[in-house]
Amino acid sequence: MTDPRAEAVPVRLGLVGCGAFGGYVLDAVRDLPGVAVVAVADPDPARRDRLAGAHGTAACDSFEALLARPDVDAVAITTPPATHAAMAVAALRAGKHVFCEKPLAVSAAEAAEVRDAADTSPGVLVVDHVLRYNPVLRMLERLREEGLLDAPRRFAFENDASDEDLDPGHWFWDPSHSGGILVEHGVHFFDAARSLLGSEPTSVQAAAVARDPAGPVDIVVATAVHPGGAVATHTHSFTHAHRCERQLTRLDYGFAEARVTGWIPTYATVTAWTDDEGAGRWQELPARAAELLHVPGLTPHGEDRVSVTVHRDAGAPGPCRGRGVERTAPHRVEAVVDLGGEARKQYVYAGSVRAAFADLLRCARDGGTPVADAYAGLTAVAVAETATRAAESGATLPVVLPSAAARAGSGSGRVRVGDV
Ligand SMILES: NC(=O)c1ccc[n+]([C@@H]2O[C@H](COP(=O)([O-])OP(=O)(O)OC[C@H]3O[C@@H](n4cnc5c(N)ncnc54)[C@H](O)[C@@H]3O)[C@@H](O)[C@H]2O)c1
Repeated sequence: MTDPRAEAVPVRLGLVGCGAFGGYVLDAVRDLPGVAVVAVADPDPARRDRLAGAHGTAACDSFEALLARPDVDAVAITTPPATHAAMAVAALRAGKHVFCEKPLAVSAAEAAEVRDAADTSPGVLVVDHVLRYNPVLRMLERLREEGLLDAPRRFAFENDASDEDLDPGHWFWDPSHSGGILVEHGVHFFDAARSLLGSEPTSVQAAAVARDPAGPVDIVVATAVHPGGAVATHTHSFTHAHRCERQLTRLDYGFAEARVTGWIPTYATVTAWTDDEGAGRWQELPARAAELLHVPGLTPHGEDRVSVTVHRDAGAPGPCRGRGVERTAPHRVEAVVDLGGEARKQYVYAGSVRAAFADLLRCARDGGTPVADAYAGLTAVAVAETATRAAESGATLPVVLPSAAARAGSGSGRVRVGDV
């Protein structure tokens, strides 16, 4: 492997899976400083030749051929979900860095194998959980860290997604290839909820609905209970025309509410009730927009906007109370976080993929744990798999994470909350 500490030497990237998202990933990361795309692999000759031609790389006919190349330091895995775990484990055992598309695996047991391989490999693994590299969500987390927002008690994601390009034969509908909707797509939001709520769920119940008895499941709902009296609801409905797609994440912070639009968030409103000191701090936020929205590796387009309006004495001056918490909060804050709305979705999406890859490069060079590491990937898959079983059984099921087979070399030093 190339000495990752030698900044002048680029990490040489090979990508497996030359489909729709493989091309998207290469376009997003190809001009990052410190990376050189050297090879792509796919059993489909037309697909691999097209991508190899577009990026001027070698073309391999299999993952094994890609992995055997001595000039590949890092592997991006953009194949269908059921193939991810075995490829990630093989690449990590070969000492490569791994950029793995979500989901990390289609079962928690397989995801745990990847986590164990990552814990003992010199390679760094990042799961492409793009929401963890989103400026709007990062800003909400910062406001919570600074105490302007309380711990959320509710996370509710409503996803009216499109099935317009998903023909009946697409692997997406086949759980043996995709893991099912809660795994294939749900992991993004189980991981986002984990980050925003600051905890891992303890139990989950769920429902899965098919359009007709012979048709595939296309609507799923999962409700995950988090410790500390918080609950997250995840709804995914792959039943819409593209033009009718809409997504909303609602976060209930008690004295404040955030409404985040887009599955790739590009716009949010926050309404908060606060006191004199809080009102002053909220009013300082627009001047701090760049710092609050900063995500390492993501270049802002220059028109990001945070605006704050304080309606002083909008409520009665005396104390108010909710869930046993009493506060003096006479002022209502209306904040808007605007990355340009839906028109900027692709900019922010590609930027988040780029930021996730930059996280890998940074950890490979300097050490440290990526934001979306193998443990994040494992946790999301474990919740998703439990939710899938809960929908099948109708039971409320505990979320149990497989224990680590090997911790040595993890380097993260993190407490593995939830391990048994
Ligand atoms: N992070 C995100 O926001 C995001 C968005 C879209 C897709 N994805 C993920 O990207 C992955 C790929 O999705 P896609 O839409 O590009 O799928 P796709 O079907 O368009 O492409 C998959 C490619 O993998 C190839 N392939 C299949 N098995 C292979 C194997 N064993 N070895 C080598 N190549 C193999 C196929 O020939 C195909 O070219 C999925 O895991 C999906 O969940 C992630």
